[in-house]
Amino acid sequence: MQKISFLMNGAAGKMGRALALGLGSRENMRLAAAVDTKPAEVDYGLLCGLGQLGLQQELDLAAAIRREQPDVVVDFTSPAAVMKNIRTCLELHTPAVVGTTGFTQADYKQVSKWCAEFNTPVFIAANFALGAVLLMRFAREAVKYLPHVEVIERHHDQKLDAPSGTAVTTLEMLAAERQPLAQGSTQEFERLPGSRGGELDGMRVHSVRLPGYVATQEVVFGAEGQVLCLRHDALSREAYVPGVAMAMEKIVTVKEGVLMQGLESLLD
Ligand SMILES: NC(=O)c1ccc[n+]([C@@H]2O[C@H](COP(=O)([O-])OP(=O)(O)OC[C@H]3O[C@@H](n4cnc5c(N)ncnc54)[C@H](O)[C@@H]3O)[C@@H](O)[C@H]2O)c1
Repeated sequence: MQKISFLMNGAAGKMGRALALGLGSRENMRLAAAVDTKPAEVDYGLLCGLGQLGLQQELDLAAAIRREQPDVVVDFTSPAAVMKNIRTCLELHTPAVVGTTGFTQADYKQVSKWCAEFNTPVFIAANFALGAVLLMRFAREAVKYLPHVEVIERHHDQKLDAPSGTAVTTLEMLAAERQPLAQGSTQEFERLPGSRGGELDGMRVHSVRLPGYVATQEVVFGAEGQVLCLRHDALSREAYVPGVAMAMEKIVTVKEGVLMQGLESLLD
């Protein structure tokens, strides 16, 4: 079997280590290189749990791609770094599967242009957990009938961006199905600034950041005499491995320079 070789970018991070282990343990995949801006002394296999590999984590993404020629780069780094990383992958004609969050609509447009310019595909998803993607699908159905809705997302306290990329995507999907609607009392006021959370088209979003959480999202619909709550918990980072693997298996078959978005695009 021809294995999919991948370079893990953001390899020292929480997601990077979990994905290197989960993907690198798959029969059809091979961890070719590990890149992070943090230096590391130990064998990367020991760091991520794959055992001694004779593979050193390295600092220079372009040099690692040139040397290893991986089939795909998997990027889970930081919102501040991801655009430059994608550009580096594309300039070297290497497809990328990107889970880093924080993209604006302008960023997506820019990536799409680069994909065409370098004739190389990129796959970006704000959430690679299948259950979370199904939650979005069910929420889109529910909001047609229950338009009063708020989102509560809970993450570990090291997360940089708020609300989460998944919460923003969920709200945008709901907004596409729902007429803008002011929710709550017209008389309401905040005793503490921000108490009612962020807002998109009248829908509120609340971001909880506490140690202990990985990622939880609740979409709560309220109507006269009833509340519907859809909730997904990512209990460990293993939750993301099958979704990232699906995207990798797909992208290595794509020959055009296109930007593919969202795990939902891979579901029937
Ligand atoms: N799409 C999803 O399903 C999903 C799920 C979880 C997390 N995320 C996102 O993935 C990203 C990483 O999350 P995390 O919890 O692993 O964060 P983390 O801080 O634990 O890890 C990020 C790693 O990236 C490294 N890094 C930063 N800039 C870099 C660069 N230019 N090149 C190489 N490495 C670089 C850091 O040194 C760090 O080791 C975040 O944007 C997070 O929101 C996405």
